[in-house]
Amino acid sequence: MSTSSGNITSVLKETRAFIPPAEFSANAHVKSMAEYEKLWQDAAKDPEKFWGQQAETLQWMQKWNKVLEWNPPHAKWFVGGKLNISANCLDRHLHGPRHNKAAIIWEGEPGEQRILTYQMLHREVCKFANVLKNIGTKSGDRVTIYMPMIPEAAIAMLACARIGAIHSVIFGGYSADAVADRNNDAGAKILITADGGWRRGKVIPLKENVDKSLEKSPTIEKVVVFNRCNLSVNMKAGRDMWWHEEMAKASADCPAEPFDSEHPLFILYTSGSTGKPKGILHTSAGYLLGTSSTHKWVFDLKEDDVYWCTADVGWITGHSYIVYGPLCNGATVMMFEGAPNHPKEDRFWEIIEKYRVSIFYTAPTAIRAFIKWGDHWPDSHDLSSLRLLGSVGEPINTEAWMWYHEKIGKGRCPIVDTWWQTETGSMMIAPMPGAIPTKPGSATKPLPGIIAEVVDQKGNRVAANQGGFLVIRKPWPSMLRTIFNDDVRYKEQYWSQIPNTYFTADGAREDEDGYIWVMGRVDDVLNVAGHRLSTMEIESALGSHAKVAESAVVGKPDEIKGEGICCFVTVKAGVVVSEELKKELRDHVTKEIGALARPDEIRFTDSLPKTRSGKIMRRLLRDIASGKQTTGDTSTLEDYTVLSKLRQEDE
Ligand code: WTA
Repeated sequence: MSTSSGNITSVLKETRAFIPPAEFSANAHVKSMAEYEKLWQDAAKDPEKFWGQQAETLQWMQKWNKVLEWNPPHAKWFVGGKLNISANCLDRHLHGPRHNKAAIIWEGEPGEQRILTYQMLHREVCKFANVLKNIGTKSGDRVTIYMPMIPEAAIAMLACARIGAIHSVIFGGYSADAVADRNNDAGAKILITADGGWRRGKVIPLKENVDKSLEKSPTIEKVVVFNRCNLSVNMKAGRDMWWHEEMAKASADCPAEPFDSEHPLFILYTSGSTGKPKGILHTSAGYLLGTSSTHKWVFDLKEDDVYWCTADVGWITGHSYIVYGPLCNGATVMMFEGAPNHPKEDRFWEIIEKYRVSIFYTAPTAIRAFIKWGDHWPDSHDLSSLRLLGSVGEPINTEAWMWYHEKIGKGRCPIVDTWWQTETGSMMIAPMPGAIPTKPGSATKPLPGIIAEVVDQKGNRVAANQGGFLVIRKPWPSMLRTIFNDDVRYKEQYWSQIPNTYFTADGAREDEDGYIWVMGRVDDVLNVAGHRLSTMEIESALGSHAKVAESAVVGKPDEIKGEGICCFVTVKAGVVVSEELKKELRDHVTKEIGALARPDEIRFTDSLPKTRSGKIMRRLLRDIASGKQTTGDTSTLEDYTVLSKLRQEDE
């Protein structure tokens, strides 16, 4: 990667292509490349007409009068329209054959099963919406949801949507401090959690973390606790209440109220390259349209599919492709609480066999772990129900793609590699599987209505197979609307590099067939096991330890996780470095952020390489962390001796 020119050097070349099986294409929603091209061209010629037509698939309480109002970088979609998101995901399915269809099939890590039909899910959501109202939740209030992967997480989200409250789901693996930061930034009033959740046979003490977080988050007034693990937890009178007790008192009658197309639906915190996490704000109609249309196109959804996305609801993938997209489409969604290797490494394959899962959507990091665990695990299960496989979260390496294709898909199932971001809300580049031949490692082509290009620093399109920045030229319905409480950062982060163009911060190249190959982040965000982590956040966690003077965190290639976390740490004077201190620091980061940010490696150093203006040169550290020779421009390096010292320590 050569950051001096701003372009990105591409080294990957993959020439294999896989044509969709004829039978798959014959039954697909979009059946051929020609059909895809026409859709894409029509959308590109007149995006507003295209999205206006697509929006007819939603259920409106009042129709919009204008498809798009675009005052760069602020978009309003379906202006004047009113709808209720939870009614689109639930009520609309109640008066036809989907009434008794399974909406969620859930399996807990210890093995329990629950099935919620659309009717049952509707009833639970209505009741919980009334619980929220009973404890004083109003439209526009922020509600933190910090839960394990149980149906109640989806119920809580949909109940918020039903009454116009804005949810902020925090991944259950985050620590108390991370929960407090997010509560405070959102100014959340209500918090929904569980006593605990299961993970690899152990209980994660969610309520205990919440109690700690609440010492630092004064805006939270009420806490609703779901009893998942029968833990004995501290319940503060007047503040904390049990989910089941409140539900027992609540009415099941909660008519869906109309909300504006642009009513905020949720905030989801994601890491940025600098500073604190960004509260990505999504609104209602456009988000639902983006998630439901892509869910149908890319998974080529059929009425009898059993669809399983293995993400956690705490990430955007869980929001868009466990809850909103699939339920809006009336799909049957598989939901699993636990880890893929508990009690054994074939848990996922066992689930696929047991429930006859037909669409399976997971992450490259999981696929690499499956490869490591051995083929005998999938080989010992009947996976013949599968018809389509998906991948998301990071670039999928060819080896993992081929293994997925052969071992899981048995050469029969198309693979949809889906590129998108928390900010984009829904998939942007992904194959329509009946139409587009796939190439291992490429997310293929932009979906209809999405104008994605690879450009240089000035915003000019680069030639085929040249690396560059991936950008999106036109607004799209499910785009983020702003960063909560920080519109300045929204403009700077996404819209200031190239005028009127959305900057993804990913590097990519487009090949001679118009296929896009995403190469990863161009800024300082790590992608660990498919989760974006800000190096800054980890550095500030390290910095809060009494013995640390300064640190720089970079990624290093990791076979399983994609990127591992390598921390260069300078200790305060007089501090003696030791293996124990390394452990102490790793534990400290885990406490501050969560286990997902646990450093893989700590290296002590006397000083860090910096530019003259004092910016740490992470590029050089990345080379050192991955054992490469330093390449590229070091002309701004303040002190050359630092680099050679770091290398010596390496040897
Ligand atoms: C990366 C997850 C290559 C990319 C939905 C992006 C990918 C970031 C892919 C967003 C893919 C995600 N191929 N890279 N199929 N999917 N990425 O916000 O760097 O957690 O910018 O959203 O993950 O991560 P986020």
